[in-house]
Amino acid sequence: MTTSTPTLAIAVMAAGKGTRMKSPELPKVMHTLAGRSMIMHVLHAANQLHPEHLLPIIGHHGEKVQQHVNEKAPEIMLNRIQWVEQKEQKGTGHAVQQLIPHLKNFSGQLIIINGDVPLLNASTLTALLKKHLEEINAATLLTTTLEDPTGYGRIVKNNADRFLAIREHNDCTPAELRIKEVNTGIYIFNWEHLAQVLPELQNDNAKGEYYLTDVLGILASQRYTIGVHCMNDPSEVQGINSRRELAYVEGLLQKRLRNHWMDAGVMLRNPESIMLDCEVTLESNVEILPGTLLKGKTHIETGCTIGPHSVLTDAYIGENSVINQSVITQAKIHDHVHIGPFAHIRPDTEVLSKGKVGNFVELKNTRLGVGSKASHLSYLGDAIIGEHCNIGAGTITCNYDGAHKHKTEMANGVFVGSNSTLIAPISLEENSFVGAGSTLSENVPAGALALGRSRQSNKLGWSEHKRPRK
Ligand code: UD1
Ligand code: MG
Repeated sequence: MTTSTPTLAIAVMAAGKGTRMKSPELPKVMHTLAGRSMIMHVLHAANQLHPEHLLPIIGHHGEKVQQHVNEKAPEIMLNRIQWVEQKEQKGTGHAVQQLIPHLKNFSGQLIIINGDVPLLNASTLTALLKKHLEEINAATLLTTTLEDPTGYGRIVKNNADRFLAIREHNDCTPAELRIKEVNTGIYIFNWEHLAQVLPELQNDNAKGEYYLTDVLGILASQRYTIGVHCMNDPSEVQGINSRRELAYVEGLLQKRLRNHWMDAGVMLRNPESIMLDCEVTLESNVEILPGTLLKGKTHIETGCTIGPHSVLTDAYIGENSVINQSVITQAKIHDHVHIGPFAHIRPDTEVLSKGKVGNFVELKNTRLGVGSKASHLSYLGDAIIGEHCNIGAGTITCNYDGAHKHKTEMANGVFVGSNSTLIAPISLEENSFVGAGSTLSENVPAGALALGRSRQSNKLGWSEHKRPRK
């Protein structure tokens, strides 16, 4: 059953230059927190309300933002999206004016969200919408109180606590600067009333911009009812204008994620040193050790110990495995596997049950079979390795001839002696054995011993007569 509210539209303002980020090439709303961009955080929250229209307003580097959202958004979200272009960035009021041609036939409620408020929860929007509808407001505004309100628009009220206006920081009188209740940049409007007053906006302010916030003063002066909902906890509506603020808000989000997983039964040791992306999923009874980063869509099954100092990106880790001081990217590790310390598992690798990958071993596009071991100092690339194989220290698959990649295949029970070089394409059949120090370029039949090295010769008495001495 769909809970769609046919009279709801949500606009997300994401056209601004984001000058204070000092990142001329990367639009502000594409900066990430916990592996997700600001704009995707906001769109995910908005999408949960099932709006009829989801309207990102883009402008500065708009094509980059559009391409980014098209790549990241699930189809159900993309189906709702109508792009709105703000060609010149003349302020938040000017941004919202661009909605007029898109919402010609729309009558209902419009939620407007600043694109730089990524911690906003859908439940907060739902509660705000409920209040807005119950009170039959022309506009309902989400505010909060801040110890340091620098930079935010202040909520100006009269003696009877009636909302009068929002005054931007740069336009405040000294008395107004002392107001601690601020605008969060999240609003709900009855679209009909908003559309009526939008053309009245002026840019006679400190920044010379058309402020959306002025609309609320205009509506209030025309005796429309303006609802104000003040949030006790400001952390959810913290805006991001600079890299310092980004780091601070990401810290809040990391704390939220860590608490979520600890409450679900995950043990985080020295939690402040651990970073989690928001799409990571963890089963209970997983232990994460200090200095570990879990990124992308990493999933970890129960009973695993991960870390310390490991970086897992889009990795799947099966039950009861241990990952110690290693890097794993886009790989599947099965149950009871031991990886590390200091292993590098690269994309398209699969380590099957009870496998072991030890120190200074690199695997790429390789399948290590059940119970097989590569314990020390090896490179295994484009290899398919059977069950219960032993890959000796220093084994290298030579998979690249300068133009093409070639496969190394090992059947079950193969033993590769230390410091062997396997020149691909090559196949080592079941239970074959490679003598240490071999360089092989030909297949090895089942059960055979392959020796690919020159014979040793000992010159007797050489040291006494010929060895050079000082
Ligand atoms: C804005 C509010 C301020 C509020 C604060 C909360 C205005 C005038 N001020 O200030 O009252 O306390 O947010 O965080 O609205 N944008 C456009 N087009 C533009 C300009 C901005 O789309 O021409 C977008 C930006 O990309 C951003 C959002 O609007 O996502 C807010 O812009 P920003 O410059 O960050 O406004 P603040 O100064 O933070
Ligand atoms: Mg802002």
